[in-house]
Amino acid sequence: MKITVIGAGNVGATAAQHLAYYEMAEEVVLVDIAEGIPQGKGLDMYEAMPVLGSDTRVTGSNSYEATAGSDFVIITAGLARKPGMSRDDLLAANAKIVSSCAEQAYAHSPNAFFIIVSNPLDVMTYLALKKTGLPKNKVIGMAGVLDTARYRTFISMELDCSVEDVQAILLGGHGDSMVPLPSYTTVAGIPLTQLLSEERINAIVDRAKNGGIEIVNHLKTGSAYYAPSASAVQMVESIAKNKKRIFPCAVLCEGEYGLNDVCIGVPVKLGKNGVEQILEISLTDNEKELLQKSADDVKSNIAKLAEMGF
Ligand code: NAI
Ligand code: 2OP
Repeated sequence: MKITVIGAGNVGATAAQHLAYYEMAEEVVLVDIAEGIPQGKGLDMYEAMPVLGSDTRVTGSNSYEATAGSDFVIITAGLARKPGMSRDDLLAANAKIVSSCAEQAYAHSPNAFFIIVSNPLDVMTYLALKKTGLPKNKVIGMAGVLDTARYRTFISMELDCSVEDVQAILLGGHGDSMVPLPSYTTVAGIPLTQLLSEERINAIVDRAKNGGIEIVNHLKTGSAYYAPSASAVQMVESIAKNKKRIFPCAVLCEGEYGLNDVCIGVPVKLGKNGVEQILEISLTDNEKELLQKSADDVKSNIAKLAEMGF
């Protein structure tokens, strides 16, 4: 197993560290345009392995030759938001970066699964799918695992219970229009609606929706990376170990939920073939409407990409 992480910044480097620590691959390659950064971080991580007890080899490079034959490519390259910015403000700059990274990585690893992290996430996933020409089961955007993790954390804080016992799913794009589904949220199998008032659930949903900006406002110089990198690694693990976990991930919809030609967060099964199934759950009219609105937002950004010539 060989895993390439493109972008050796906060998310990329932390993801590489998790991958190496958990011995998810024999080799992890960090790639970045910044000279010395992937080499230095890669070597530093490799030197941590005797202490951590892992035989994963971590290297860094500014060139894609080092990535040849990867089984996974995780794209985290791009600009991160600062206070006052929305994810959509990153569209033009990150489209250029993600196109180039996806094309170059695909040229050296045509059989890899691509996990996309760069924002705006749903649009960048669509772009990577188009630029690589890979089948839709192999290009998967990470956002729902993170958004759900935030939601689960806030529920466990509220109920003073283990985060492990909180199970949830949400739909839609990674942004203000994401669609949390309290009716599909349980705590040790108990519906959340039996444990918390509607008012408290709404407040938690709201905090989860704004989970990204809450961290940006604390950090001021960048965005979240511990939970995002852990989320991307969990997706890799499910595919690499054929665990068939069910996660909300951004994938191309072709008729599912009445959506077409858009990458957006839906529940998927991740196994050795990547996306093995998109699960269609029943939604209320209001949830359907929210999902459609979220898809419309993503589509309008896809249209902007086309206008920009991508
Ligand atoms: P960062 O600024 O710490 O790292 C980005 C790295 O990308 C930098 O090291 C930079 O040199 C590199 N880079 C820029 N252009 C490149 C190119 N053409 N080729 C290779 N490397 C290049 O940013 P951070 O915090 O790691 O975030 C990365 C991206 O992930 C951002 O777009 C951010 O918005 C997104 N993100 C998405 C999340 C999600 O849920 N999908 C969660 C967290 C971050
Ligand atoms: C987040 O939600 C920046 O999209 C990223 O933290």
